[in-house]
Amino acid sequence: MKIELAVLPGDGVGPEVVAEAVKVLGAVGQRFGHEFNMRYGLVGGASIDQSGTALTAETLHMCQDCHAVLLGAVGGPRWDDPLATVRPEDGLLALRKELRLFANLRPVKVFPMLADSTTIKPEVVKGVDMVVVRELTGGLYFGKPKKRWTTSRGRRAVDSMVYTEKEIERILRVGFEIARRRSKKLVSVDKANVLESSRLWRQIAIELSAEYPDVELEHMLVDACAMRLIQRPADLDVIVTENTFGDILTDEASMLAGSLGMLPSASLAGVPGAGKSITFGMYEPIHGSAPKRAGQNMANPIATILSCAMMLRYSFGLETEAEAVEKAVASVLERGYRTYDIVERGKASIGTREMGDLITTAVRG
Ligand code: IPM
Ligand code: MG
Repeated sequence: MKIELAVLPGDGVGPEVVAEAVKVLGAVGQRFGHEFNMRYGLVGGASIDQSGTALTAETLHMCQDCHAVLLGAVGGPRWDDPLATVRPEDGLLALRKELRLFANLRPVKVFPMLADSTTIKPEVVKGVDMVVVRELTGGLYFGKPKKRWTTSRGRRAVDSMVYTEKEIERILRVGFEIARRRSKKLVSVDKANVLESSRLWRQIAIELSAEYPDVELEHMLVDACAMRLIQRPADLDVIVTENTFGDILTDEASMLAGSLGMLPSASLAGVPGAGKSITFGMYEPIHGSAPKRAGQNMANPIATILSCAMMLRYSFGLETEAEAVEKAVASVLERGYRTYDIVERGKASIGTREMGDLITTAVRG
């Protein structure tokens, strides 16, 4: 297969973790006979520094010309002034919106050999294997009005949680489809006891469930879900929720896997596996740019490498290749190698490049 891949390393540790993922993809290409043509672009702070905007039309067009996008991370203290008119995060949000990546899949799977490196009791995280389906192009992130102004009685700001029926239905459908292929249980998370948008969400979920009689639908309030995630996480399988709730819940859920540095994500423009079997997508670790760790060969590249496995699966239909990457990661962890974020106290850790090299070698087989 010939694959055109847009690569946007971004800021902070982004370039370091992306470099390792690119190595791994090179090994996948060699072993399975695929050709990856990587086209690099700037996004986030790196783009602001060069052109004053977090995403140029040129980078956006390059992404639109490719089959998929691999992204590192954006942001950092240099661009964090609350009064700044451009922010690195704007680049990421614009990519999500412009590329219509409404479905964000965030699997949370605990590698058994890491059960001891979480801050939660090993018996609680044992067997955790869930996927959070987060709506990615609506809600508070994009709703209008969204502004800050000064009144005679002081400063004010507003963000709006806006959802249309169409937006809610298409993301719920992704949840139902994924649940159908897994445990057939879907938990729809909302705040229907307070928010009008959540009440619409819940109503549409109930209507849609008629089309999925084989899937058991449960509604959960977001605060209860936050509790459930650390109380009995192994009982959860597929969660579907709106943008902001999904953002918060997935950082929380990442702690089950031991580190934010372990969790991959796929942001898709369609329902995975529906109609055309491949879907345009952007793949990125869920962690941020970790500016304090940047340039030190410290960051854990596993989240980005596992994001590439998701890319192979969802954007190219290459299941065997995806599994080869996941197995390579598991085998390196099995042999005891750890980056700083997942190492047990008192034990030695390895760097970003070393972890990337070990996984690359394991992929070669
Ligand atoms: C994430 C991140 C982003 C988000 C930030 C960087 C804008 O936290 O992907 O979860 O809030 O969506
Ligand atoms: Mg987040």
